[in-house]
Amino acid sequence: MRAASVIGLLALFSASASAFVEIGINRLRSEHPGLQPNRLRSRATASTYIETLVNNVTGGGYYASVSVGTPGQTQTLVIDTGSSDVWVVAYDADLCTSSLLQRKYGDSCSDTYNPNKSSTYKLVSSNGFDISYLDGTGSSGDYISDNFEVAGTTVKSLQMGYATQTVRGTGIMGISYSASESTENIYPNLIDQFQEQGLISTKAYSLYLNDFRSESGSILFGGIDTDKFIGNLSTMPILQTTSNGTGSYSFLAVALNSMTAIPGPGTDKYSVDFPSSQLIPAILDSGTTLSYLPSDIAESLFDSIGAYTDEVETGYTFIDCDGPSDLSVTLSLGEGATIVLPASQIVLDVFAGIQDQIPTNVPFSNACLFGFQDIGSASSSSLSAIAASSVSSSTYALLGDTFLRSAYAVYDLTNNEIALAQSNLNSTSSNVVELEASSSGIPTLTGVKSQQTSSSSSGSSTTGGSSGSSTTSGSGSSDGTVTVTASPKASVAGLSTSHGPGFGVLAAAGAACVLSFFGGALILA
Ligand SMILES: *[C@@H]1O[C@H](CO)[C@@H](O)[C@H](O)[C@H]1NC(C)=O
Ligand SMILES: *[C@@H]1O[C@H](CO)[C@@H](O)[C@H](O)[C@H]1NC(C)=O
Ligand SMILES: *[C@@H]1O[C@H](CO)[C@@H](O)[C@H](O)[C@H]1NC(C)=O
Ligand SMILES: *[C@@H]1O[C@H](CO)[C@@H](O)[C@H](O)[C@H]1NC(C)=O
Ligand SMILES: *[C@@H]1O[C@H](CO)[C@@H](O)[C@H](O)[C@H]1NC(C)=O
Repeated sequence: MRAASVIGLLALFSASASAFVEIGINRLRSEHPGLQPNRLRSRATASTYIETLVNNVTGGGYYASVSVGTPGQTQTLVIDTGSSDVWVVAYDADLCTSSLLQRKYGDSCSDTYNPNKSSTYKLVSSNGFDISYLDGTGSSGDYISDNFEVAGTTVKSLQMGYATQTVRGTGIMGISYSASESTENIYPNLIDQFQEQGLISTKAYSLYLNDFRSESGSILFGGIDTDKFIGNLSTMPILQTTSNGTGSYSFLAVALNSMTAIPGPGTDKYSVDFPSSQLIPAILDSGTTLSYLPSDIAESLFDSIGAYTDEVETGYTFIDCDGPSDLSVTLSLGEGATIVLPASQIVLDVFAGIQDQIPTNVPFSNACLFGFQDIGSASSSSLSAIAASSVSSSTYALLGDTFLRSAYAVYDLTNNEIALAQSNLNSTSSNVVELEASSSGIPTLTGVKSQQTSSSSSGSSTTGGSSGSSTTSGSGSSDGTVTVTASPKASVAGLSTSHGPGFGVLAAAGAACVLSFFGGALILA
């Protein structure tokens, strides 16, 4: 029985040409001229598109139901802000036709795509597609193009991976920067095409993953729904990667400044130790189930709230399900975003009915998986698919679904900004503001006043976006910089890496401490 899988769909960075890549604060952001109120149109329908995402806890991610080809063939894809290619599983992929491989990878194919049955299919490049993810999964095959229907609209002739070899039975919908595509021949990807084909005016989308216990969340292309968050959106620059003096945007990463934890009732707020005067780049990755912190920060957090790391069997960190229900962890990001993660979103009861799967040394009679993990321990896990030699601690955070559920996140890939606000969980109303092409970035809109109670379903908003303010945040003033090093030596066991070094690691400046992506599609059953 497969009870819960943990996926990590950050695409492994293949910086084939450059030895060193820095992630730093982009300090050269242009001045914002200030948004004209008439550039916003409230409740627009023509140029925003919403897709419901199924919160599949057993599948470890959020799934969109899309349709590929003519006539359309339904595909269920994991939505992934940590990678940049859309790919589908070929009808005759190795995994789909081999029960041996299905047993080996513990996965089988659900929806597949058959190009012979589509009149709009085109081959782009034979064997051009090859992607590896940090959890050790990957796929390869051709690049093709075909019509792609999502969120009630159709993107024509979208270039996609067509996976004939795969260790995953479900395709991926990568929506990060095209610079991180798993090919050197960069092409306009899904979010680029949304804009280039005139469906949306600017390359931006808003992600609302919603409560851990809710069955669904949503992604809104080209707009912001002010009923889905509380208070003001706080905008921050996306951190630039620089290679050989040239800046570029590759990861959807922002600055994590500090964290505090409240362990329980009547306890003081505990400040999690951060390396002195250092910002931590944090990738906001919807394709990663849990959230991962650099080892020293993770240890400080775990100590403060009594979480236990199983160093013997799994490398995973657990927490007492019966602990205080008012435990919370608060993250401060960018230039003033504060996101509170309550116990209900980070104490994960994924062992219901399979208590015998909990490692025997875990000291809780009722153990839950903790929403934060140590990037170092996870990587040294016995389940890791990544060579142990490339593993150590780091100065880098990966904030996955256990963070994103508590936030409303607006990703603007045109202006290279992300805006965050506390999520208004289980919101049933909506007030969509369309984003128009503008050099002034994400507007500082105001959401609802407080968390709507689950009983309230009337859902009228009194502080909706039609009165959205037009202030913009200042540009980054911090200095934090870390260096990303592409290591040609690192490899993923069992995966072919036919282009570039194939697999990247991150390293702190000076390369004293190599920081790698971790692996381990942990299947807790
Ligand atoms: C959730 O994901 C698992 C694993 O991919 C899959 O077997 C299952 O059918 C999915 N459930 C739903 C409701 O989509
Ligand atoms: C699909 O088309 C290819 C070449 O066009 C052919 O080799 C293959 O046999 C076809 N498969 C099916 C199922 O028709
Ligand atoms: C959201 O809804 C789920 C059930 O669908 C419920 O378990 C959860 O407590 C609700 N969250 C809030 C904050 O009301
Ligand atoms: C939100 O922004 C408006 C306009 O900038 C400001 O007046 C208000 O105080 C802010 N609200 C909060 C909760 O910060
Ligand atoms: C850096 O750029 C210079 C000038 O464009 C070039 O000569 C050099 O080879 C580059 N170095 C690397 C490591 O790419």
